[in-house]
Amino acid sequence: AHAAEPFKIGFIIPMTGPFASTGKQAVAGAKLYMQQHGDEVAGRKVELIIKDDGGVQPETTKRIAQELVVQDKVNVLAGFGLTPLAFAAAPIATQAKVPMVVTAAGTSSIVQKSPYIVRTSMTLPQTTAPIAAWARDNKDVKIDTAVTLVADYGPGHDAEKVFVKTFTEKGGKVLESIRSPMANPDFSAFLQRVRDLKPDALFVFVPSGQGTAVLKQFKERNLAAEGINLIGTGDMVEDDLMPSMGDEVLGIITSHHYSAAHDSETNKEFVKAFAEANDGMRASFMGVGAYDGMHLIYEALKKAGPDATGDELLAAMKGMEWESPRGPIRIDPETRDIVQNIYIREAKKLDNGERYNVEFDVVEMFKDPGV
Ligand code: DHB
Repeated sequence: AHAAEPFKIGFIIPMTGPFASTGKQAVAGAKLYMQQHGDEVAGRKVELIIKDDGGVQPETTKRIAQELVVQDKVNVLAGFGLTPLAFAAAPIATQAKVPMVVTAAGTSSIVQKSPYIVRTSMTLPQTTAPIAAWARDNKDVKIDTAVTLVADYGPGHDAEKVFVKTFTEKGGKVLESIRSPMANPDFSAFLQRVRDLKPDALFVFVPSGQGTAVLKQFKERNLAAEGINLIGTGDMVEDDLMPSMGDEVLGIITSHHYSAAHDSETNKEFVKAFAEANDGMRASFMGVGAYDGMHLIYEALKKAGPDATGDELLAAMKGMEWESPRGPIRIDPETRDIVQNIYIREAKKLDNGERYNVEFDVVEMFKDPGV
């Protein structure tokens, strides 16, 4: 016997507003997973309910989460495009005893906001520490001084803290730490300041969708000609933006958990299917986070059975491991956070003329180091 009601996944993500690109990728990733794996799991019909929260009002995300839980009686909440939105929904998951799968947001402390939160995206300390270490340890580019430029909210603060700590511990000097407004920022004044400071490197964290503006203004101010190396987390050079970014992206070194150029059969098939289902759009880490979030939910439902409670689903998610398009990943059973490879990549033009972030080094199965 199996439950008559469908198993409902309430997926909340910005599909309009300044972070709409996050939602576009995430919805595409979640839908592709269902297209490939069907809408019946453990004998129970699965229903994906997608809700747009607009990306900038935490209260909206919280209200939608509440409605999904109370009216739609969803079995799982998922998505969460930005940290403040994940923070706002966390108490709803706790009250309802419903797993909340964070597929996008990246502030380290998110998993501590509810015992029902499980993350399939990344954390900023996790993605930042390896590039800060690379800046000091690599033999090709001498980087003794740096300036940090981060979006002024949770993930940016995490990135700034971890970059400064790692870079300084390895003998580097951070000349200044600059914070830009989170939504619709204008980077030009900040980049002028960087030009005046003339560091060996500028470390940047901006949320998904803002990288093109950073690169454009970095180029306009000729910072590369001043000997300033642009480095950062991969959020700045997101895969779906690479085709439209100019050649100014070439040579930029970043660290991240996913590149569409990741060299594995699993990834090649994923990128191909993703493009085919989405008018040629290149998959990015936001698409992969959602795709893996769906995998986690499907596998938990299989393991815990069709009538599983929220607590049973949560227990099934803890410790789960699988091969993602990004490489091997695992849900840490204690922290409920993702453990994954972080790659060092260089933006390059391939023989076919397309630009990709090409992975050349890796920190294997790296846990969130915290802040
Ligand atoms: C967050 C959002 C992003 O778009 C991103 O690339 C990284 C982190 C966040 O709000 O946590």
